[in-house]
Amino acid sequence: MTATWSVNRQLFKENAKNVIQDNQIMAVVKNNAYHYGLEFAVEQFLDIGINTFSTTSLNEAIRIRKMAPNATIFLMNAVYEFDMLREYHIQMTLPSLSFYYENMNELYDIQIHLEYENLLHRSGLKTIDEIKEVIQHHKQNNKEHKMNIVGLWTHFGYADEFDVPDYQIERTAWLELVDTLLDEGYQFKMIHAQNSASYYREQGVLPHHTHARVGIALYGSRPYSTINEMNIKQSLTVKGNVIQVREVNAGDFCGYSFAFEATKNNTKLAVVDVGYGDGILKARAQHEALINNKRYPIRALMMSHMFVEVDDSVHAQDEVILYNNDIRVDEFTFKGVGANSEQLSAMNHDSLIKEYR
Ligand SMILES: Cc1ncc(COP(=O)(O)O)c(C=O)c1O
Repeated sequence: MTATWSVNRQLFKENAKNVIQDNQIMAVVKNNAYHYGLEFAVEQFLDIGINTFSTTSLNEAIRIRKMAPNATIFLMNAVYEFDMLREYHIQMTLPSLSFYYENMNELYDIQIHLEYENLLHRSGLKTIDEIKEVIQHHKQNNKEHKMNIVGLWTHFGYADEFDVPDYQIERTAWLELVDTLLDEGYQFKMIHAQNSASYYREQGVLPHHTHARVGIALYGSRPYSTINEMNIKQSLTVKGNVIQVREVNAGDFCGYSFAFEATKNNTKLAVVDVGYGDGILKARAQHEALINNKRYPIRALMMSHMFVEVDDSVHAQDEVILYNNDIRVDEFTFKGVGANSEQLSAMNHDSLIKEYR
């Protein structure tokens, strides 16, 4: 009896297929494929025909290359290991004008995607003039070996936000920039901008774009709450077990630091073998767990345990589900527990038993 983290392979693939439909998708597999496991996720994505991947880590990019000799692999963070990029045919972002001028001689034979900063301000060329400056300067470079500009991209920082106008602002700025460059005859093999939220908001890939750069939806969580649950399904189950059921009386405090005070005599508390040490977020403990298809309130969260208030139908050894497709990670994201990726990333794969079924 140990708490487990398990993914249903078939459901994972079915969900990804359903997300991509007929669209060209660049699968974001950063941070160990949102903690689903890089090798596992890449294998499933290749299986359903995705052959374009992006990550922020050179180490992950190389691991993808070892699994997928023909894939397009795009590194969203700039790195300085230029020989490795050439050796493993990894394409990379151009994160600023200064990066270009400082490293243009070292970037030879590397395929580069020009990045537009836009509202996120995390990385990228600041204006269309900076983008044109790089292209013009690059054209005039007569060296036989020089970098190869293949892509144009940005990241929408506000596509998940509905209460502010910022998505429309960044979207308009970007589409105008793309239109202007294309109208002026600039050409790019790849143009990509959309995360999951933008992909669903736009009902597919934006005009002139070759790919949507999708992460969380491929992993089974909705980026925003008005997407029908049937359209994105969770293949992950995280569950613990009832170790024992104990009774406490009104006025008894349970858990560290007076976490829960019983208000009734004979309150039944299931002691469950999973806690924040396994990666369950603290705010998640303000909600319920699923036992025998019924939801019960979590009353206290400890490192290796939690208390769940139960009724007579719950017994030792019953399974306690923290997450599955009926009690999904995204439900708690929308209740304010933390971003989908925050809860997924927090899962402790060393303490939970990890299974792919
Ligand atoms: C640059 C970039 N592109 C795409 C994504 C994918 O976003 P999502 O997981 O919301 O689809 C991310 C995720 O944070 C990102 O940083």
